[in-house]
Amino acid sequence: MISEKTVQEIFETARVEDIIQDYVSLKRRGVNLIGLCPFHNEKTPSFTVSPAKNIYKCFGCGKGGNAVQFLMEHEQFSYPEALRHLAGKYGIEIEEDEVSPEERLRQQRADSLFLVNDFAKDYYQKQLFETDMGKSIGLNYFKERGFREETIKKFGLGYAPDGRDVFTQTAKQASYDPELLKQLGLTTEFGRDFFRNRVMFTIHNLSGKVVALAGRIMAKDVKAPKYINSPETEIYHKSKVLYGAYFAKGPIRKADECILVEGYTDVISLHQAGIENVVASSGTSLTTGQIHLIKRYTSNVKVLFDGDSAGIKAALRGIDMLLEQDLNVRVVILPEGEDPDSYLQKVGTTAFQEYINGPEAKDFILLKADLLLKEAGSDPIKRAGLIKEIVSSIARIPDPLKRSLFVKECSRLFEVDEDLLINETNKAVASQMKRRQQEKEIERRRQQRMADRARQQSFPGIENDFPTQEPGYFPEEDHGFPPEQYPEPVQEKKPKQSSATGHEFQEKDIVRILISSGGEIYDKEENITVAAYLLENIEDVIDDFDNQLYKAIAHECQELLAQGKEMSSKYFLNHPDQKIQVLAVNLLTSPYEFSENWFNKWEIFLNQKAPDNNFKKDSHKALMHFRLRKITRICEKNMKKIKELSDAGDHEEAVRYLQVQKKLTDIRNDLAAQLGAVIIK
Ligand code: UTP
Ligand code: MN
Repeated sequence: MISEKTVQEIFETARVEDIIQDYVSLKRRGVNLIGLCPFHNEKTPSFTVSPAKNIYKCFGCGKGGNAVQFLMEHEQFSYPEALRHLAGKYGIEIEEDEVSPEERLRQQRADSLFLVNDFAKDYYQKQLFETDMGKSIGLNYFKERGFREETIKKFGLGYAPDGRDVFTQTAKQASYDPELLKQLGLTTEFGRDFFRNRVMFTIHNLSGKVVALAGRIMAKDVKAPKYINSPETEIYHKSKVLYGAYFAKGPIRKADECILVEGYTDVISLHQAGIENVVASSGTSLTTGQIHLIKRYTSNVKVLFDGDSAGIKAALRGIDMLLEQDLNVRVVILPEGEDPDSYLQKVGTTAFQEYINGPEAKDFILLKADLLLKEAGSDPIKRAGLIKEIVSSIARIPDPLKRSLFVKECSRLFEVDEDLLINETNKAVASQMKRRQQEKEIERRRQQRMADRARQQSFPGIENDFPTQEPGYFPEEDHGFPPEQYPEPVQEKKPKQSSATGHEFQEKDIVRILISSGGEIYDKEENITVAAYLLENIEDVIDDFDNQLYKAIAHECQELLAQGKEMSSKYFLNHPDQKIQVLAVNLLTSPYEFSENWFNKWEIFLNQKAPDNNFKKDSHKALMHFRLRKITRICEKNMKKIKELSDAGDHEEAVRYLQVQKKLTDIRNDLAAQLGAVIIK
């Protein structure tokens, strides 16, 4: 792990404008720089970089952050990858922290597996380009399929010679561990080569490391599978890998669309033709893990189906999963007998693109309705069954607005009453919701068991690293309404942004002030800062934060204060905890989003300090609202306790609590009076 010290050094050194200028051309406007946002299509620039704050923000699409976040978003780097990239750019030496022995062992094992796979890939590639057999069988085959040499190299294609154990022997001579060769499936249990007389495909993970290999058969009339693949290993989890994702991730984000095909060769062929936003599920049906991978880059998927109608209906069922994950799905069925690769080679790039972008690209639900209708003909019983089928697909769409559009369209297609369809859809939504909740509950219990077990196994006194998930820790993932209301039936409006406990807003406001102006002076005479003022006044309720992230920040501020350290927005914008960084960016920019004259406001916001008394008013008010919420809740809890005690006949104790209640009510009423709020009850 990169040490905290290095992380800090990277943050202090990295200039957001340096980094962004590598990708976006920026113009100076006032003290800021502006340019066309690389994250969405726009004609007038709303992408703003503030060298002073060392952050960027796009007022068109809302993306914002520091240099690290920019690289993560733009290059699809992981957090450590982004840090390493910056360290490299600025010549910062990376100091690694001690990692746990288990973690180090795991890392070492993974590294050695990657090393062996990499060796295998190089070996097969060398066979393809440098041996007679490789050239005459493998290279010829690829060239006949129209793959150019640069494509072959880019995708790491190769040739596995037809021998008993030529590869295995070579690997052993190069001192690779025979055990690892077996683990990776490169060598069989009996010491023979697993891939023989096959052309080879390399399967990369998102950072381009070789996680697996696949081989396509060359021999004809042999009863062996067309493709064979590396087995599942510590570094290869089939259900989480999409073939081609390493090359496609950038293009997918740029096109805001992911093209999904079935085969390795389809990916390569399209890519070579300049259609680079394409990945393959590799013959298996899609998994949730793969869908999550896609969702990191886009919410639009276009599935290309081979034109052999037998499989289509079965495959459509798999697509329901894409809907559930809130992806917009379009489907293109290729002409009879063609797959994406063959059709592209047949008609050429232009015609191919016209085909997949034209009217043949059908919305999934409507296509399904169409197919089902054709199948049912005029048989009324079949038609009734088919309504159930289509309704079950529509019900999976989380967005109620989208759902109602499909309901309308399908009621037209099926010639059934819209209300009836709404009714059916709502029923299906309810039953799917129930099923999902049950699944969630099962999963929650499973995780709980795992965490319990891990806790029992870990050594006493040592923090174990299986945190139980605290609710509310990830505010930016919060959908804004409690999970049990999700998804809601058609026609009902989304409830307004609210949290499960209703305290979110007040808590967030306190944190916003701590981050934006915690270091400012609240009172000159007493020389106390805004943070000191706030924290002193919430000390009694500081553990009552419902949102765990906000609570962590409040505690951290206390810590900083106690140590006499400076508190500034910069500190939070460059915080080593990414969740806090992201929150800081959002809190510091969000009130100004999408305003007509956002630019001026942004400028003012960045460069002009608000007058002192604004901090004062702002923080005082936020504080009172926060306290009112918390105190009200304590009042309610106390009342409950009183009731319990008197029900149990413990009147003496109940009286004690009543006295507390009196004090609490006084505080509450006082707060309410100051805020001019009305208290019911
Ligand atoms: P296809 O049979 O459609 O092959 O399988 P293809 O990709 O078009 O290959 P060519 O054009 O005949 O060379 C689609 C995908 O299903 C997986 C592979 O990932 C393949 O690319 N598959 C297929 C297997 O894993 N094993 C098999 O035996 C067959
Ligand atoms: Mn094919």
